[in-house]
Amino acid sequence: SRAINPNVSMCFLVDLPPNALTSTHCCPSLPFPSKIKDFKDFASPNATLRIRKPVHLVDQEFIAKFEKGIALMKALPAHDPRNFDQQSRVHCAYCNGAYHQPHPFEGLKLDIHRSWLFFPFHRWYIFFFERILGNLIGDPNFALPFWNWDSLEGMQIPLYFSNPNSSLYHKLRDPKHMPPHVVDLAFNGKDNSVPYHQQVSYNLATMYKQMVLANTKELFMGMPLRVGDKPQPGPGSIESAPHNTVHSWTGDGHAPNREDMGSFYSAARDPIFYPHHSNLDRMWVLWKTLDEGRKEYSDPDWLNSGFVFYDENANPVRVKIKDCIETKNLGYVYEDVDIPWLHYPP
Ligand code: C2O
Repeated sequence: SRAINPNVSMCFLVDLPPNALTSTHCCPSLPFPSKIKDFKDFASPNATLRIRKPVHLVDQEFIAKFEKGIALMKALPAHDPRNFDQQSRVHCAYCNGAYHQPHPFEGLKLDIHRSWLFFPFHRWYIFFFERILGNLIGDPNFALPFWNWDSLEGMQIPLYFSNPNSSLYHKLRDPKHMPPHVVDLAFNGKDNSVPYHQQVSYNLATMYKQMVLANTKELFMGMPLRVGDKPQPGPGSIESAPHNTVHSWTGDGHAPNREDMGSFYSAARDPIFYPHHSNLDRMWVLWKTLDEGRKEYSDPDWLNSGFVFYDENANPVRVKIKDCIETKNLGYVYEDVDIPWLHYPP
């Protein structure tokens, strides 16, 4: 088998982009042991499912819970693997080369981006984030909301994320892109100065192209990455945009690498990262419903690849891609909302 299961007990200093704002260690403060249990706690078929809702459609009570959960994560002792900063390091570690490929390819650094690992890695990553948060606020049904940037009402930074008194606020964001400024899903580093309705229509066309026209698993999910392959074989449509584009659009244009959202090492320090990835994860769910015959990879090297995370009890667990293919297995679904781009060919 050439499935990738990195040896996370060896964690190396990461590669940072030039002029990175902080020289950061992305390895967890509590190093992973060499023997790690497999994750087993799957939702039973009759379990109540957690329902992930659009960020702009949740009520005050939900916002208060979400804010409290993030505040509690930030307040945990710095070395606790569930601490907010430790959680952001998880992303950096898997992206910026802290882990290497398994023997005999230790020379190759692991990067879960720009390959078929993109969707499943982030699905598992935010799954544990959601459980940690739910656990801290004593609500096992807590569901991470999604930043519904593919809908008209969702095409801006959600208001309560830009309230400086909120735990969801983050300073390192582009001041020009504060609400009600509308997002550019095809952002290339320069601001479009087009009227609101024009930008909305560009965005819907981008969505159509990336979702509807990307009609093979290779185009949508990204290219295979197996043990021994060089990193970054090629991203899927959604990973390039809106994934990368919304990352850089959100990050601060005055920071050297559009930190924090605009660079992988720092992106997960901004609480908006998680609703952003919740919506990307939703795209994987939606894509399969667009046509019969749309399905993810069935290659055993993909299904048996996996990752290691800390769970809500701060225990390390090993997960496999094959166990995350149906979100119901993980105990959650996405609320059905209008899909305005569905009939919007460019
Ligand atoms: Cu792993 Cu949105 O980045």
